[in-house]
Amino acid sequence: RQQESQSLYQLTEKAADFYREKLRDHSVSTPAITYLKNRGLSGAVCKEFGIGLAPPGWDNLLTHLGTSAEKAEQLELAGLAIRRQDSDGNPAKTEPGKRHHYDRFRNRIMFPIRDQRGRTIAFGGRVLGDDKPKYLNSPETPIFHKGRELYGLWEARQANRELKRLIVVEGYMDVVALAQFGIRCAVATLGTACGEDHIQLAFRHTGEIVFCFDGDKAGRTAARRALESALPHMQDGRSLRFLLLPEGEDPDTLVRQIGGERFDQLIDEQGRPLEDFLFDLLGEGINIQTMDGRARLSKAAAPLLDLLPAGVYRQLMFQQLARRTGLEQDMLEEIIAAEKARS
Ligand code: UTP
Ligand code: MN
Ligand code: MN
Ligand code: MN
Ligand code: MN
Repeated sequence: RQQESQSLYQLTEKAADFYREKLRDHSVSTPAITYLKNRGLSGAVCKEFGIGLAPPGWDNLLTHLGTSAEKAEQLELAGLAIRRQDSDGNPAKTEPGKRHHYDRFRNRIMFPIRDQRGRTIAFGGRVLGDDKPKYLNSPETPIFHKGRELYGLWEARQANRELKRLIVVEGYMDVVALAQFGIRCAVATLGTACGEDHIQLAFRHTGEIVFCFDGDKAGRTAARRALESALPHMQDGRSLRFLLLPEGEDPDTLVRQIGGERFDQLIDEQGRPLEDFLFDLLGEGINIQTMDGRARLSKAAAPLLDLLPAGVYRQLMFQQLARRTGLEQDMLEEIIAAEKARS
């Protein structure tokens, strides 16, 4: 097992080297360099994040690393090669002297995903144009579990002695663009929702998490999911904020317009603390002036607040809910119990 993992780490590292080499190889890299420049990224920041290029073609990486059948199978295990299918859609059977795999990543800008020790464990790849899918990620492998990794965390830890906060964003480009503008504490989940493991990982390195998702419907859904994942992990000394972006913007587009300093300022001035964000969200479409509205707010809020661990913060949040609804705490406890029994 361990030996298998060792060789996978070596393989992903070699692949990362290969992709970086290709980004420096002018016979293939001109469109990619132009693309990165157009997105405002400097050579230095690309280097810091180890960005590379998977050139066009079906077998560049295989030819570079996997000439033997055994190597090709290792590349498959590492998520870097895909086994061909025969005409019935079954995985191609191994026959001596034949190649049965092709490269997963072709004609894409490559973002290496590094684990907490800085080892490359997977990749995200972006098309240079408008093809679909826009981003392709490595599948789960023995060394890559996307629910447990945050893109950019290792780079953020390298750049900061201490992490005052971590900004959680949606995309690779958001992380890299923020770094380009001097904000070296952004991390991204990898094409998945922000789950409890992500939250725990982030809180292991900082006391403050700022969620900054895209200003669109998906971004708002992501924020709500992130909130639910975070509530069970709130404790004294930890804080959570939400910076909601204007419709159509994401951290990348915004920081390019306003610069790093103002982006930081925006977080300080307009990042909604957890308590505000939560009650805003729950209060949407509810008229708190009416009794019915207050009943609906209590019913919606109670199960969410019940996710909070026991402690002062939980008490304060219930107090806050009590204030807003005009209900006594013990009444709220009853509502929680009733809602729990219902679900
Ligand atoms: P977005 O769809 O917000 O990316 O996806 P974007 O901001 O438009 O991308 P750019 O700026 O044009 O490059 C955010 C993240 O969701 C995952 C990726 O991790 C991406 O960074 N994603 C998105 C995928 O995994 N696959 C996709 O096809 C699209
Ligand atoms: Mn898990
Ligand atoms: Mn989006
Ligand atoms: Mn986006
Ligand atoms: Mn974007």
